[in-house]
Amino acid sequence: MPFIQWSDDISTGIDSLDSEHKTLLTLLNSFYDSVQMGKGEMTVGRLLDELITHTVTHFSHEEAHMRAADYPSFHDHRDEHDRIRHQLMTFHAMANEKITPDLMQELLVFLKCWFLVHMTSCDRAYGPHLRAKGIT
Ligand SMILES: [Fe+2]
Ligand SMILES: [Fe+2]
Repeated sequence: MPFIQWSDDISTGIDSLDSEHKTLLTLLNSFYDSVQMGKGEMTVGRLLDELITHTVTHFSHEEAHMRAADYPSFHDHRDEHDRIRHQLMTFHAMANEKITPDLMQELLVFLKCWFLVHMTSCDRAYGPHLRAKGIT
């Protein structure tokens, strides 16, 4: 059973961004599996690096699309991304110091929460506006 499963409730209706969300879910599920299976620091750290890199790139893509489409809630959405980016960087710095089971559990709770809350609320909200502006 994956940590988070893709469902239409998460879909924004923008294919390119849904595809990135699916990639992020896959990476998150791999990261979760590596923690649960007690994989070594090298493996867990590499998967975490990959997840954070893809997340930061994805946020940039979303922000570019929202800016291009004059999305009215762009600034609020970017502020939310800023909060998540900041928290991810803090976790990343701590993980680079030492990967501990407690830190990984705390990180997984944070990741699950932002994935589900942000994707199902903030991200889904831009769908109709971006589609109306011809972004797919
Ligand atoms: Fe997103
Ligand atoms: Fe977003």
